[in-house]
Amino acid sequence: MGVEDGLEGVVAGSTSICSIDNDVLTFRGIDIHELAENALYAEVVYLLFWGSLPNESKLKNFSGELIKHAKLNSEVWDLLKRFPTKSSPMEWLRTAVSALSFYDPDSMENSPEANLRKSIKLVGQMSTLVAGFHRLRMGQKLIEPERDQSLAWNFLYMLHGKKPEELFVKVFDTCLVLHADHELNASTFAARVTAATLSDMYSAITSAIGTLKGPLHGGANEQVMIMLEKISDPSQAKKFIESALQNKERIMGFGHRVYKNGDPRASHLKRFSELLGKKTGNLKWYEISTIVDEVVRQQKKLLPNVDFYSASTYHYLGIPTDLFTPVFACSRIAGWCAHVMEQLSHNRLIRPRAEYLGPRNQHYVPLDQRSL
Ligand code: CMC
Repeated sequence: MGVEDGLEGVVAGSTSICSIDNDVLTFRGIDIHELAENALYAEVVYLLFWGSLPNESKLKNFSGELIKHAKLNSEVWDLLKRFPTKSSPMEWLRTAVSALSFYDPDSMENSPEANLRKSIKLVGQMSTLVAGFHRLRMGQKLIEPERDQSLAWNFLYMLHGKKPEELFVKVFDTCLVLHADHELNASTFAARVTAATLSDMYSAITSAIGTLKGPLHGGANEQVMIMLEKISDPSQAKKFIESALQNKERIMGFGHRVYKNGDPRASHLKRFSELLGKKTGNLKWYEISTIVDEVVRQQKKLLPNVDFYSASTYHYLGIPTDLFTPVFACSRIAGWCAHVMEQLSHNRLIRPRAEYLGPRNQHYVPLDQRSL
């Protein structure tokens, strides 16, 4: 194994957007716990883009802008409706976001103003795409977002076709806050690498979505729910996990490259899982999760990350399991865009070196002289 495999511990760039120091996560210097307890997702997006919280009138205008873009025009839907709905939602989303550039007059314009316009559009559009994909695959009619509501409200409304309960909107909005950015995680790094070649915002976000999709990154939340469903009953949880650990299986939703004493986002999601379990009168998924958590902590000394309790929380919100990672993207789009803009504000091509471990002094052997 090369000394820098996985770039563990390597500082590969600078940022003023998000920091993780001694397990404390901050956005623009504000602790994630404060944001989770107080902020709306729209405020956090503004904070990530502009570096400070908006005042009341700026927030109102910005929220309005986001919702304005949440309504996709019919020309875009005409193309998206032709994509196969049997594809996995992340495949569909990756291609849909890439296709949005066809309809954006700014698509190839890399000025700060154009990139800000594209960022605001993308944050507005993402949740409409995900909810719309679900309706299309279910053979249901698309629903337009409502102007005076938040992205969180509109996502649940467009997905389920009915006005969501206030508690569900509040929880979901905070889930979006918690996932909005995370320093140089793999998908953000991918976005920055693409942007640093002076490609374009849509290409950078397409790279990021493809990177988020993997089960070691954003795809973990779906795998957690699949595991909870396999366990299916709290009485089976301990035995199931002990046997998985004995078989040296990776337990999805546990462990982290950076956090050593726990992911600060997990405690909020655990609270939401319990809250919604009580609200829906079905604590089973929360209970299974807490047993899994206890066993993995005790036997493997690993703590839950953001993906573990978000699985049961999203399930309680009525979100289909295969939309969990797209929902992560609906939030992280804010961080990706902020990082692309920051990268371009002091850009230099990202082109590291690799330690060569292969054979040296080899020679070309003519085709007819090669053995099997
Ligand atoms: N279950 C069982 N063993 C684990 C786990 C886990 N979830 N995570 C790490 N380990 C073990 C691993 O087997 C290895 O053991 P050994 O040294 O005996 O081979 C050791 O811990 C180090 O693992 P690693 O893969 O080298 O550590 P890493 O820093 O590269 O991995 C990680 C970080 C998040 C990829 C890993 O913990 C993991 O695969 N977790 C499960 C997937 C997951 O939940 N991903 C979401 C990450 S956080 C949010 C996000 O990005 O979406």
